Amino acid sequence: MSLRLPRVIGHRGAKSYAPENTLESIHTAADLGIKWVELDVKLTKDEVPIIFHDDTLERTTNGSGPVADMLYDDIKQLEAGSWYADSFAGVKIPTLEEALDVIYERDLGFNMEIKPCPGREKETAEVALDLLAASWDAHDRLLISSFSHVSLEVACDMAGDWARGLLLEKEMPENLADLVEFFTPKTINFDSETEASAVEALLDFELPLLCYTVNDPMLARRLVNLGVDGFFSDCPDVIKENLPRMH
Ligand code: G3P
Ligand code: MG
Repeated sequence: MSLRLPRVIGHRGAKSYAPENTLESIHTAADLGIKWVELDVKLTKDEVPIIFHDDTLERTTNGSGPVADMLYDDIKQLEAGSWYADSFAGVKIPTLEEALDVIYERDLGFNMEIKPCPGREKETAEVALDLLAASWDAHDRLLISSFSHVSLEVACDMAGDWARGLLLEKEMPENLADLVEFFTPKTINFDSETEASAVEALLDFELPLLCYTVNDPMLARRLVNLGVDGFFSDCPDVIKENLPRMH
């Protein structure tokens, strides 16, 4: 099945307008007319898949310490909204299951970024993919990505025919061609700080190129001119409105 990629994907929901990786952030992206969201998935100590970016709790919650040391019962007591704005006080860290409910309710496409805590690359992918397999059937609107090659290999083994995105850091790996051959990704997802010459080299793979994280419309336009297909953005509405029209 071919992938129906949008030109703009809401990053962590719509991170410029609501606390990242929360149900409110997913709803905000949908309210803005955005068709897909990207969310980060990791595991609690007792292997509950949750939507969360950092390995530790400090930046985006009122808790502290490593996520990998916390039971879900403790995670669900935490508050993940008031660091962002008082109007979001009381917002919680969602489970993957809760996020999927909102994604279905709002009829969104989904880029699930598997973002394991260190040392939990295999089980994070296994648990998250298992849960997703139980309910997801719109495979033209699902992309599984990870910086972790272990997690991505689990995706190949468990869900070989689901679309994968190869996530790259800004320095290109020397074995990039081998990675593309091994993981057979449907997209290459690259950093906006990647050198233009390296972006041009990515075009040779003849795969859709998605760039993270682009909040500046001028940058988005420059990248479109280079041949980039889509963007992850914290303000996806701004990027969408300012892209050149497709002919
Ligand atoms: O998946 C694209 C982007 O989210 C990767 O970086 O750190 O924002 O998860 P990060
Ligand atoms: Mg991410």
